[in-house]
Amino acid sequence: MALRNILKDTDEQLRKKSREVTEYNKRIHTLLDDMRETLIEADGVGLAAPQVGVLRRVVIVMDTSKEDLTPEEQIIELINPEIIEEEGEQYGTEGCLSVPGVYGYVTRPMKVTVKAFDRNGKQFEVTGEGLTARAFCHEIDHLEGQLFTDITDHILTPEELEELRAGDEYDDDGEDA
Ligand code: NI
Repeated sequence: MALRNILKDTDEQLRKKSREVTEYNKRIHTLLDDMRETLIEADGVGLAAPQVGVLRRVVIVMDTSKEDLTPEEQIIELINPEIIEEEGEQYGTEGCLSVPGVYGYVTRPMKVTVKAFDRNGKQFEVTGEGLTARAFCHEIDHLEGQLFTDITDHILTPEELEELRAGDEYDDDGEDA
C-alpha cells in the first residue's frame, strides 16, 4: 500500500468524467488499498479515484454511523456506483479534501441507496443516512467532474467557519470528502 497525492481543485483532472471499471483486477485492488490508506491519513469521510488522479468510477466512503467499528472497518468500497433511491432532504455544510479549508452549505437527500460492485465484481446495494448519504452523493459527483463548490448556495465566511469548528465535536458538519 502507498499513500497517494490528493489533487487540489485547480487540477483539470478533477473536472473530467471518470470511466467505468470493466476489469476487477490487481490494479483496481491496489488503487482501493492506496485510497483507503490515503483517506485515513487525510482524516476524511470519503475519497473518489479522480481525487488521486485516476479517472475510474471508484469511490470509498466511511460509514461513520457504525461507531463500534474502527475507521478502517467503516470504509465501504464502491465500484461503478449508482444512486437508485433517494429519500428526504438535508441542508448542511460540506467540505472536500481537494478544496482544503473551504466549507459550504449543500442540499442533499437525507437517505440514499446505492447500487455498486465490490472489488471482486460482485454487485451489492447499500443504504446510507445523514452524513453517509451526503458522502455517497459527494463522491459520486466527483466521478462526473463536479465539486461541492459548484452546487453550494453559501460558502462559509471565516466567522462562520470558526463557529463550525467550535461545534465540531457535537455534530457531523464540516467533514471532508
Ligand atoms: Ni470531495
